[in-house]
Amino acid sequence: MATIPTKDELLKRVAPHGQEHTLRFWDELDDAGRAQLAAQLLEIDWESFDGWVKEYVLNAAPQGIPSDLKPAPYYPLSPRNAAEAELYEGAVRRGKMLLAEGRVAGFTVAGGQGTRLGFDGPKGTFPISPVKNKTLFQLFAESIARAQEKYGKTIPWYIMTSPVNDAATRAFFEQNKGFGLRKDAVRFFMQGTMPAIGLDGKLLLEGKSSLALSPNGHGGCLLAMRQSGALEEMARRKIEHVSYWQIDNPLVQMFDPLFIGLHDLTNSDMSSRGLIKTGPLEKLGNYALTGGRLTIIEYSDMPDALAHQKGSDGRLAYRAGSPAIHVIRRDFIERLTEGNRLKLPLHRAVKKVACVDEAGEPAKIHHPNAVKLEMFIFDALPLANKPLILEGAREEQFGPVKNPSGVDSVESSQLLQQNRAAAWLEAAGVRIPRKADGSLDCKLELSPRKYLDREDVAAAAGTLAEAAPGAEAVYE
Ligand code: UTP
Repeated sequence: MATIPTKDELLKRVAPHGQEHTLRFWDELDDAGRAQLAAQLLEIDWESFDGWVKEYVLNAAPQGIPSDLKPAPYYPLSPRNAAEAELYEGAVRRGKMLLAEGRVAGFTVAGGQGTRLGFDGPKGTFPISPVKNKTLFQLFAESIARAQEKYGKTIPWYIMTSPVNDAATRAFFEQNKGFGLRKDAVRFFMQGTMPAIGLDGKLLLEGKSSLALSPNGHGGCLLAMRQSGALEEMARRKIEHVSYWQIDNPLVQMFDPLFIGLHDLTNSDMSSRGLIKTGPLEKLGNYALTGGRLTIIEYSDMPDALAHQKGSDGRLAYRAGSPAIHVIRRDFIERLTEGNRLKLPLHRAVKKVACVDEAGEPAKIHHPNAVKLEMFIFDALPLANKPLILEGAREEQFGPVKNPSGVDSVESSQLLQQNRAAAWLEAAGVRIPRKADGSLDCKLELSPRKYLDREDVAAAAGTLAEAAPGAEAVYE
């Protein structure tokens, strides 16, 4: 064990910031407890700390909306003219070439706490496929295995965990023998944390020997990638682009040649999928331009009037929403994290955070008592050169699971998975039983290990069995 700093040394660090109370129980702690608390305290960016307290805790002002805000342009799903058609065709070729040359890595952010789902364990271990109950991790692993087969190249998969779920995530992969993927092609790394700050500006203690810490947001992935050595490893592997997706979307098309190729051909530093929002208030981030830079205005910050604004064509002006799917250039991440520092803005959320009181006993928390701070990946967009948005077909690539029921739930995601499978099968000439109202009259599942995309299903046309009414049909 490294030498543990003394109480005096730590006091010198925390006292100038009014945080002496964090050492209140020091004298009672054993070496392990002291080492843990000292490490947590030393990890805090004290240079920035007072600024955080001032800006996000004591004088937090509502986030303003820039006055020059405009809807962001996007590349549409289908090309609008001959020149665009040519660009898209070239992009598909380019994307396939990049995949075949091993220039693309997959990257899943899986460090979140998944509080809304209320599932005890890493969200990636949540069973989500409609018939076989495959977990999110398994679906992604099978998709990657199929993509590797398709493009004849190993596609490394990076998975960001957090202290909350790192050990459980690694253990899950061990238990499942990495789902058949090469061990050296799956790399886990842990993101950083941020301390919860009480509404009085004081750090909260989760226990006598620990601050109340939580993962520092998906934006933390950029720095974690560098600090873990993953970024360097990508450079060694000659990876040029990182395909980024969230753990909660089993429908994501992580290696779409068009998206990857367009991003590469246009020299975009960071490219993003855009979905046409189902309505003005759908809970997706809104793509917008300000000062000539691409940005995302969170749904919670979007003024109603702007959300409802219509263009001359009668469509919503801010109709492009973000499903949090991006392709990011490796050298852009290197630039953003130079000197081991990442300057992304912080986002605050006032939450109930478990902590101990002055006596070291669990405090009774009835109301939100602390500010949690996080970085968001999309805050890299304004820093990116030539960022682009490519429209995606919602029903083909977005079925997130965030809640136990209702919107973006297990049920809705499973229905979307089945509807997509049905569409692909029907396009390949397979008769799918449907009820009078058009809804499915069977339970369907396509294994991504074999049927990664529409093309894979089409290629199997003529060999696929029909699904029986009311029955389960698994294609694997
Ligand atoms: P969400 O914003 O849905 O947060 O994360 P969450 O923590 O998973 O769920 P709730 O809000 O507590 O219910 C979007 C994506 O970003 C990842 C999540 O794992 C998910 O893939 N994420 C989020 C991180 O990797 N780290 C974080 O600190 C936060």
